[in-house]
Parts: sequence; C-alpha cells; structure tokens
Amino acid sequence: MVTAPARDPHAPTALLSVEHVSKRFGGVVAVHDCSLRVQSGTITGLIGPNGAGKTTLFNMIAGVYRPDTGRIWYAGVRLDGLSPSQIARRHIARTFQIARVLKRLTVLENLLVVPQQQAGERLRSAWFQPRRVAAQERAHRTRAEDILQRVQLATLRHAYAEHLSGGQKKLLELARVMMSDATLILLDEPGAGVNPTLMRELVQHLRQLQATGRTFLLIEHNMALVQELCNPVIVMSQGCTLMEGTPQEVRDDPRVIEAYLGT
Ligand SMILES: Nc1ncnc2c1ncn2[C@@H]1O[C@H](COP(=O)(O)OP(=O)(O)O)[C@@H](O)[C@H]1O
Ligand SMILES: [Mg+2]
Repeated sequence: MVTAPARDPHAPTALLSVEHVSKRFGGVVAVHDCSLRVQSGTITGLIGPNGAGKTTLFNMIAGVYRPDTGRIWYAGVRLDGLSPSQIARRHIARTFQIARVLKRLTVLENLLVVPQQQAGERLRSAWFQPRRVAAQERAHRTRAEDILQRVQLATLRHAYAEHLSGGQKKLLELARVMMSDATLILLDEPGAGVNPTLMRELVQHLRQLQATGRTFLLIEHNMALVQELCNPVIVMSQGCTLMEGTPQEVRDDPRVIEAYLGT
C-alpha cells in the first residue's frame, strides 16, 4: 500500500523555501550553499554585513540571477529557472536597494500602471466591456490616492518621479508594492534614506500589510527597525546563513557580533 509521506499537521508551512543555493560571479562566491525558509504571514528579517550575499539572494528569488546550484520553492512551485516577469506574476514583488521607479511618469501614474502591468494589456475587455473597465479604473485611482496619502506623497501626485529625493523614491516603490496584489514582498533596505518620522509610518504600513495576509522578507541595516518589526531574523555572513532566531536571540549571539566585526 502506498501511503502519503509523514507530515506534522501542526508544522507551519513555509511560503518560500531556499535550498542549498549558490551563486558565483567569476572568482567571487556571492552566495554559497545557502538555505532558508520564510513562513507565511511573517515579516522575516535578513541581516548581515555588507557583501554577505543578501541582495544576490534576493536577485535569485526574483529571477534576476539563476542559481548555480540549489532550488527555490514558493508555495510548492519551483521558482528557480523562471524569468522575473513569470515570478512577478506569481504574486512576488520586490524593491531595490537603490529605489527603481518609472522616472518619466508622475507619482500617481507610477501606481496606476501597477494593475495594468499585472493584468497585461486587457485590450479585449476594454473593447467589449468599456463600462466595467472604467469602473475598475476609478477603483484603482481611489486606491492609488489612498496609498499616496498613507506614504505622504499625495501632494506630489503630479510630480515626475525623477524629481523625488532618494527617500521619497523608496516610499514610492513601497507604494507600488502596496498597489500590487503581491503575497510575498521582498524589501531591500526599505528604511535607507527615509527620515525617522516617515520610518515610523513605514513600520505601521508594513504591519497593516502583514495583517492583510502579506508575507515579507526584509533586508535592513537599521537594527531598531529590525528589532521592532521582524520575527524571525535570519543572519547571513559570507554567502550563507549563520543563524536564525528572535530579534533578541540574534542581538545577543556572539557569532553575529563577530560576523559584523569581522568585516
Ligand atoms: N553582479 C555582480 N558581479 C560581481 N560581483 C557581484 C555582483 N553582485 C554581487 N557581487 C559580489 O557578491 C558579494 C555579495 O554581494 P551582495 O549580494 O550585494 O551583498 P549584500 O547585499 O549582503 O551587501 C559581494 O562580494 C559583491 O561584490
Ligand atoms: Mg545589498
């Protein structure tokens, strides 16, 4: 008789599972035999000294780089080998260490194109169901305006994105993620260049998004932000994971301090 493999029914299911992934650039081993899991509904922190391989890992999850070895699973589906757009269509969104926005569009337009990009150009429905499309567009606009209020970019809604400061671009990038229907959100240093007041707001937004069922993997250097927001925290050093624990466990672990001092 064939039986199903044993499973702990109480074990939390990992939304994202990175298994023994490696990536080298010429002679540089950026990520080496790295494994980690992100549980559904968490804000999982990813910290580690500069050059630890965090951004490279993000790029592999997002499909920018193909891992040299290993596998990446998302909700039971293999991600490695898929293109960035195929991965985005699976409801995974990411932001960049240096924010990337659509410079020649206004702040508001940057948000309004998100649903279109997700759906592809729905020309046929625009032709056959113009009223429905118009209603949908109004709904998107209301939602975009609401999000811009929340990240305090509403007064800049008609400014071209290229004129924003670095911190404002980071907020706009986050707003674009909020506008998407992503389930897993990869944030690369969302707090970088964002002033302390807006940082407080950022924490609130992320918590709200978490409450609506989104899951985050968050690279951040601001330890106060990590301590407040993330659980668990995964520490990367020299291309692989060093440890995982609560923010307190990570903060108090001598190996983590050593990893930071070593660079
Ligand atoms: N495209 C690339 N070409 C060559 N080396 C790279 C590239 N991307 C990253 N690296 C190298 O890989 C290592 C890890 O970098 P990165 O993933 O950016 O680390 P982190 O984000 O943790 O600071 C570094 O030594 C970096 O110089
Ligand atoms: Mg980085």
